[in-house]
Amino acid sequence: MNKFENSQLSKEQFGEDFLWGVSTAAFQIEGAHDVDGKGASIWDVFTSQKGKIKNGHHAINACDFYNFYKNDIQLVRDLNIPNFRFSISWSRIMPTGVAPINQAGIDYYNNIIDFLLECNITPWITIYHWDLPHALELKGGWTNRECVKWFSDYTAVCAQYFGDRVTNWMVINEPSVFTGAGYFLGIHAPGKKGITNYLKAMHHVTLSTTAGAKILRNTLPNATIGTTFSCTYIEPETEKQKDIEAAKRVDTLLNRTFIEPILGLGYPQSDLPVLKKLKNYILDDDLEKMAFEFDFIGLQCYTREIVKHSLLTPYIGAELVSAEKRNVTATQMGWEVYPPALYHIIKRFNDYKSIKKIIITENGAAFPDKVTNGKVFDIRRTHFIQDNLEQLLKAKKEGYQVDGYFVWSLTDNFEWAEGYNARFGLVHIDFETQQRTIKQSGLWFRDFLA
Ligand code: BGC
Repeated sequence: MNKFENSQLSKEQFGEDFLWGVSTAAFQIEGAHDVDGKGASIWDVFTSQKGKIKNGHHAINACDFYNFYKNDIQLVRDLNIPNFRFSISWSRIMPTGVAPINQAGIDYYNNIIDFLLECNITPWITIYHWDLPHALELKGGWTNRECVKWFSDYTAVCAQYFGDRVTNWMVINEPSVFTGAGYFLGIHAPGKKGITNYLKAMHHVTLSTTAGAKILRNTLPNATIGTTFSCTYIEPETEKQKDIEAAKRVDTLLNRTFIEPILGLGYPQSDLPVLKKLKNYILDDDLEKMAFEFDFIGLQCYTREIVKHSLLTPYIGAELVSAEKRNVTATQMGWEVYPPALYHIIKRFNDYKSIKKIIITENGAAFPDKVTNGKVFDIRRTHFIQDNLEQLLKAKKEGYQVDGYFVWSLTDNFEWAEGYNARFGLVHIDFETQQRTIKQSGLWFRDFLA
């Protein structure tokens, strides 16, 4: 059977209240990096440095969503997608990260919100998707505890200006990824390295997540407040005790370290001993401060990782066995195509009884799509989405809670250190001309959601 044409999936199987959406992030799509009073972010600075991004790509123009937002929101509407997730660029509305605000930036996001509502699309705001104002980085950025205060004030500005029309909020996107890549490995902005930077950033980001959530709760009592976590299904390479323990440490780092403190469980130090070093940065009532009852938790799952014991990796004593080494099908990111990961992750996070709602706020795949005669036949992405939806449905049928699914992403966009090579969109972009072409996956999703 050709699944591409004959998928057995129907929207109705997921239930009437199930939320369907598409996710984006400011830095990856907006461009207009310095117009109308916008200040520089750490990603503007990082992308301007030699050798940081593949092929020397930068995001000065990206998808030019700054100018194309109406066109692209109309695409969302044409694809029958009822929910649109986007993030606010902090330095666009507060150029130095703190007051004063930049009215042109506020106007821009107000225009987006108003146009979404005009198109009958529900806006979902992510307050922070990795683009810290550079002016704050000069003061230490996330490694400086003051960042909790800066972030709180910025959140209050977002609530004040957008909260009259926006109900759905996500505080911080994937803290484990941007602290790990940006503060430990140095491969993402701001390019800091080392365990001290990492632990400080981790703790301040966690404190900020709940500080921001509390501000939203106090100023917008009717808001639906969530925050998003990246999660990866982890399995040991063998049944050897050493590999099992290594897999457990990686699982703790990737899947538990950031969510458990906000669920009131504290940091999982006994399963990842390096976290004990956090004691240098944790103040008296921090554990209490870090807990918050979110209305929903956004999970973002793309793949699984196979882990083996390794003496060569400090702090974690584990190594990932790449998809390439295992000779399994992978995406352009090198991530194994393994849809059951989503099922396992949903099941796993259902174990946390205090989570009220789970929404898959990102899932998708990068493949090197090309436009041929005005069409993009991205059969692998179409299958990827269908197969992941089948796994989600399986979890749902078994009684696990999951309340929504957002595709990453609407259009191809700036994929951080990978530049423009990794294409994740339901809509293809020719970055020379900004020409948009709906891919076959987008057409399938449109018909599925009709
Ligand atoms: C991030 C996105 C990113 C996507 C694919 C997530 O880690 O939230 O910004 O583009 O995954 O890598």
